[in-house]
Formats: sequence, C-alpha cells, structure tokens
Amino acid sequence: MNKSDCIVFDDVTIAYGTEEVVRNISFSVPNGEVFAIVGESGSGKSTLVRAAFGMLKQATITGQILLNGIDISTLSDSDWRKLRGTEISMIFQNPSAYLNPNRTVENHFKDLFRAHGESYDASRVMDMLNLVHLDGGERILQSYPFQLSGGMQQRLAIALSLILKPTIVFADEPTSALDILVQASVLDLLREVTQALGATVIIVTHNIKAAARIANSIGVMNKGQLVEVGTTQDVINHPKDEYTRVLLDSVMKVV
Ligand SMILES: Nc1ncnc2c1ncn2[C@@H]1O[C@H](COP(=O)(O)OP(=O)(O)OP(=O)(O)O)[C@@H](O)[C@H]1O
Ligand SMILES: [Mg+2]
Repeated sequence: MNKSDCIVFDDVTIAYGTEEVVRNISFSVPNGEVFAIVGESGSGKSTLVRAAFGMLKQATITGQILLNGIDISTLSDSDWRKLRGTEISMIFQNPSAYLNPNRTVENHFKDLFRAHGESYDASRVMDMLNLVHLDGGERILQSYPFQLSGGMQQRLAIALSLILKPTIVFADEPTSALDILVQASVLDLLREVTQALGATVIIVTHNIKAAARIANSIGVMNKGQLVEVGTTQDVINHPKDEYTRVLLDSVMKVV
C-alpha cells in the first residue's frame, strides 16, 4: 500500500452464499481524490462499496480492504459504529428513505452529534448548510424533510454525511433519483464540498458521463469484474476495454 492511499482494495472477491458477484477487484484511491465506479445494473458496484462500509454481514469477503491502513476484517461492530459518520460516511440513492420524517433538519444534526458523543455545534451546522447551498437559515433548520425538494433533501444528506468531517465518503448513485439538471449541480456540489474538506470519495454511478464530471479516476465494472481502471482522461479519451467503449457510445447516443 502506498502511504498516501486512503482506501485500498486488494484482490477482493465477494460472494452471497456460493455465488461470487464481485471477483478479484484491486484498486486504490489516494487521499483527497474522487474515484468513480461505473458499470451497468447488477455488475456489483453497490456490493463493493457496501462491503467497504461494513454493511455486508451476510456475504463472504476474501482479499483485503484497507481503510486508512486498517484491514476492515479486524473491525468489531462497535469499531464500525465509531467509524461511521466520523471517519467514513455513505450517501445513498434515495435521501427520503433515511431522513426521518418526524425530525426537523436541526434535529437530524443534533441526533448525529449526540450519536457520536459530540456536543452540538450550531455554527458548524450553519457553515455546512451554507456550503451545500441550503442557506435559508432558521427556516431550513426548522423544516421537515417533506418540506424540502428532492435536490434539497440530497444536499441535506450530503451535509449530514460530511458534518463530522469523515476522511472517506461513499456515494451510491447519489443523484439518480433527481431530475437531470439537478443531478449535475448536486455532483458539482459533492466535488466542491469534499474538496474543501479534503475528503476522499468513492462514487458509484451507471453514468460514465457523470463519472467524468466529478472523478479523478474511473473504474469500469462488468459482470463482477473491474475491466478497466485509469485516470478519467485516459478512460474517456483512450478506453482500452471494449465494454468501456460501449458505455461511452451509449452516453453519446443519449445526448
Ligand atoms: N443481499 C444479496 N443477496 C444475494 N444476492 C445479492 C444481494 N445483493 C446483491 N446481490 C446480487 O449481486 C449482484 C450485484 O448486485 P449489486 O447491487 O452490487 O449491483 P449494482 O452494480 O449496484 O447494480 P445497480 O446499478 O442496479 O444498483 C446482482 O446479481 C444481485 O442480484
Ligand atoms: Mg447499486
């Protein structure tokens, strides 16, 4: 492992029961960079990031995943609880599924600070809300999730995932529930805010164009394998794998 790597996947294979859905994946992401995993539905993208987030209790993982140099197979449940939110966090596809409809925006932040034994820091919350362009002040703080648009909910989810300054952020299709214009602005925002915090990001998307917008490097998955990995420039301009070319062609046809 390189000293500046924030996360390393070393020959990772993941099986549900006897079925291997992810095979022999190796790549690493340097501190502060954005890595996008692209590939079609069912290629194993979510499985890979869920494994790295400690969410795959029911699967068998072989090989090694290192988070900030720590082999995740050595972590206990209580280690994971401490790490989530503070060191690593996850942004999911559908924010309304994990925002609590009975809690105001302010209470979402209060719950998070409390869960990690930290005292509530109102000015840090206000700074973060400004950073994600939810700058309605008290009005936003007292809103319930259903009073926010889908794009605003996802920006709130980004703010919640970053408020405790994690070093690694996983985002699994964070914009696919949003309308197309809002998608681009949320992606730009995610890049901007994580850059400001120096966080490393692994973003999953089936859209290689979205990946190119935000990522330093791209990994292309097909049927559980990483068929290509390289800098965004190289993957977009000089794709080596036939499947990458198919993905690029399909994007060009839609536009
Ligand atoms: N909990 C599970 N138990 C058994 N099989 C699973 C489980 N979760 C996912 N799979 C299988 O693993 C494979 C990869 O699924 P995964 O969700 O990782 O794909 P994905 O690339 O994220 O797809 P999508 O773009 O649709 O989100 C699929 O064949 C899926 O059916
Ligand atoms: Mg998925």
